[in-house]
Amino acid sequence: MTSVEDWIKNEGIVIIRQIGIKNGQKILDFGCGSGVYAVLASKILKNTGKIYALDSDEEGLLGELIDKIKRYKIKNIEIIKTSGEISIPLNDEFVDVVLIYDIYHLLDELEREMLIRESYRVLRKGGFVSYHATHIGGEYNIKLEKIHAKMKENGLQLKEKLEKPMFHWAWIENSLIFNYFKKS
Ligand SMILES: C[S@@+](CC[C@H](N)C(=O)[O-])C[C@H]1O[C@@H](n2cnc3c(N)ncnc32)[C@H](O)[C@@H]1O
Repeated sequence: MTSVEDWIKNEGIVIIRQIGIKNGQKILDFGCGSGVYAVLASKILKNTGKIYALDSDEEGLLGELIDKIKRYKIKNIEIIKTSGEISIPLNDEFVDVVLIYDIYHLLDELEREMLIRESYRVLRKGGFVSYHATHIGGEYNIKLEKIHAKMKENGLQLKEKLEKPMFHWAWIENSLIFNYFKKS
């Protein structure tokens, strides 16, 4: 079993590229937590893109990201601390990618719908929502068919499905990632 440290150092960045993260993009990491994905993406973007790392900090993880930004002198991550509202303080058609990684299950039905709508609004045409499918079928009532349908209803077309080892909470777990695109 790969350790989290090894995954972050080696496979993580390769997988993030395979998911579609590229130099120059603007990325919203909704519910970024300690910023494992934001920091990996920041290495790919270098100085030509930006990550908007949004979190309400209800799990107290944001401090870890702030420490990493200071320690590694990261210039391309901007933290957006919210009070948990699902209205994204970014302009329409502003970002290339929205990451919804291990947060969807924490939202209620109305919030889930709002997050998909808000993601569509802030995405540029041709941009995509990348969803890391955690907690499927469990106590949180997450059903993939329902998510695909909700994305479609809101203008986001499922185009890519990847099966990869991903960071989840404190371990590495074989996961599904779905990319839903906004029509160009
Ligand atoms: C399990 S962590 C996932 C962190 C990160 N996305 C990852 O995959 O490692 C979930 C994060 O979502 C945040 N969160 C929960 N509800 C939120 C909301 N309504 N708005 C913004 N962030 C929220 C929590 O504070 C926490 O940092």
